[in-house]
Amino acid sequence: MIKLENISLDIYGSRRRILNKIDWHVEDGDIWVLFGRNGSGKTKLLEIITGYNFPSEGTVTRFGKGHFGSDIRELRKRIGYISSVVREMFSSNERVIDAVVSGLYASIGLYRKPSSTEYGKAADLIQRVGLGGREHDVIGHLSDGEKQKILMLRALINDPDLLILDEPATGLDIIAREEFLESLSSLTKEREHSVIYVTHHVEEITPLFKKIFIIDNGECFFKGDIEEALEKNIFTSLFGRGVEVFRRGERLYSSIK
Ligand SMILES: Nc1ncnc2c1ncn2[C@@H]1O[C@H](COP(=O)(O)OP(=O)(O)OP(=O)(O)O)[C@@H](O)[C@H]1O
Ligand SMILES: [Mg+2]
Repeated sequence: MIKLENISLDIYGSRRRILNKIDWHVEDGDIWVLFGRNGSGKTKLLEIITGYNFPSEGTVTRFGKGHFGSDIRELRKRIGYISSVVREMFSSNERVIDAVVSGLYASIGLYRKPSSTEYGKAADLIQRVGLGGREHDVIGHLSDGEKQKILMLRALINDPDLLILDEPATGLDIIAREEFLESLSSLTKEREHSVIYVTHHVEEITPLFKKIFIIDNGECFFKGDIEEALEKNIFTSLFGRGVEVFRRGERLYSSIK
């Protein structure tokens, strides 16, 4: 689905190499966590995957194609992308249902009146995340947690092949975060899309996720099964001896020793 080969990124005018020789294959149906400390290069890597940025070296293959050229819209249609930038673009006086339906425009690039079937699909999705009844409320009235769910639905209304979430739980309290993760799990299990979920909190790594790509200082630090990362104490190697990451039941936790 997504194949990154030997990807490096240098910022023009800066001597720093932001990404260095990244290889990563995301296969159909894969559910990945992209994990790394602040400034490690996660968002830059996502920008390359989604075509908002271009690597200085290496090749990107998406859905079997080397490059999408001017037809980047075709690419965007197949990738649902949630980031803080998208979050800020949300106008606060837009109705909840319109915000979800507007996900269709993002890919089609065409402003037309949505059909009743499309509104029906949006209403159904809103119901699924426990926000039934709020369809005609304005976005500005929603809590941050509710807003994040609506953003996710906006990305999902096109039935993308890949859903990318860049730190979607930032700013959410523990309950809102759990509700968001539950909505993500249930919507992902009934569809067949792949997921890349970016975070730097192990507490967000639910049993939905099987694989982890850990990036550090622009380089691949670990790539593989989450279980293997735990067995090999990869998190301690990443954060240093003062941080412990452990499993309790189905979830992961971190603590300062
Ligand atoms: N235009 C730019 N010019 C110079 N440096 C940049 C530019 N854009 C990003 N960087 C640097 O690249 C590095 C990686 O940035 P990136 O946004 O990918 O980090 P991140 O892993 O997403 O971090 P966070 O968890 O804080 O979101 C950072 O050190 C950042 O300062
Ligand atoms: Mg980032």
